[in-house]
Amino acid sequence: MTILVTGGLGYIGSHTVVELLNNNFDVVIIDDLSNTERFILKNIEEITGKKPIFYPFDLKRKELLKQVFDAHKIEGCIHFAAYKAVGESQEKPIDYYENNLFSLINLLQEMKERNISNFIFSSSCTVYGQADKMPIDENTPLKLPESSYGKTKQMGEEILKDFATAHQKKITLLRYFNPIGAHPSAKLGELPIGIPNNLVPYVMQTAAGVREKLSVWGDDYPTEDGTAIRDYIYVVDLAKAHVKALQKLINVSSDTLVDIYNLGTGKGSSVLEVVHAFEKANDVAVPYQICERRAGDITIAYANADKAEKELGWKSETSLEEALRTVWQWQKYLETREK
Ligand code: UD1
Repeated sequence: MTILVTGGLGYIGSHTVVELLNNNFDVVIIDDLSNTERFILKNIEEITGKKPIFYPFDLKRKELLKQVFDAHKIEGCIHFAAYKAVGESQEKPIDYYENNLFSLINLLQEMKERNISNFIFSSSCTVYGQADKMPIDENTPLKLPESSYGKTKQMGEEILKDFATAHQKKITLLRYFNPIGAHPSAKLGELPIGIPNNLVPYVMQTAAGVREKLSVWGDDYPTEDGTAIRDYIYVVDLAKAHVKALQKLINVSSDTLVDIYNLGTGKGSSVLEVVHAFEKANDVAVPYQICERRAGDITIAYANADKAEKELGWKSETSLEEALRTVWQWQKYLETREK
């Protein structure tokens, strides 16, 4: 069965392509290389011994997209390709709406015209905003996200719900909590392009001496150590959930057209817990300073992922420390590549 993976050379996309190939799916990747590098494709081939088909273009180019659908018998799609930097989305909202929404719409036009079902959308826990109670399950009311990035995810979900209802197509929305870590082979991971915004890539670069000090954004939150709490989910575990979700879409008849799953560990960790777990896992120091809170940050978010366990047979398997160990191996790999 051939699956189209958009953004398949990106961070979560590349790990998911590996899991799909390992589960005997054929994979066609479209990725415009705007936030990744070509060597990731070679590394996917080295890890799996298989060669996915790759098209380097922007999904806004409708005519090229049509050609891909003409050339392959695509039977499902996992859509990762999107801009994802929260801060940047505030400076360039129109670019975010244009990129994230038009790519989705163009894909859905093709799926509709060719009567293809089985669509999985990369969504985010950002759609919940600061939820009123923890843990967050799928019935938690959505709040308007603070960032334009978050709004594109919420709008994407709405577009997909309308698509599913109007055209009787089955779709799955996966709401990720905070993905971290790298592939155990150390050949795939989050590429630090520019100054990292997210916590773990920043911690990694600080430990490596690329950055002088980590800024811990706020220690006056109403939490035990005063720093904000998130649910850090290992990227390979996350990638495996996509395969399970796809298998369910394909094989299990369901009464619902739209399935939504939270993907997290169910456990919250504070910023300082992550810093200390990284130090312990890798026997390195992570110098840090306490700074003011970052605008738009929430206090706490962690998942209730019971629905994914019950319906997909999926749960997070990897501890925070194990995940952070793979981050350091990835940093070492990147350093040897530079030499
Ligand atoms: C953000 C987005 C989320 C997106 C995710 C992955 C929001 C509100 N959040 O999550 O939608 O899916 O990125 O891209 O839209 N921190 C520091 N110092 C740093 C960096 C981070 O203390 O240098 C802290 C933050 O304040 C936060 C925690 O670490 O408490 C995690 O931050 P980050 O990795 O940026 O993820 P989120 O903001 O949770």
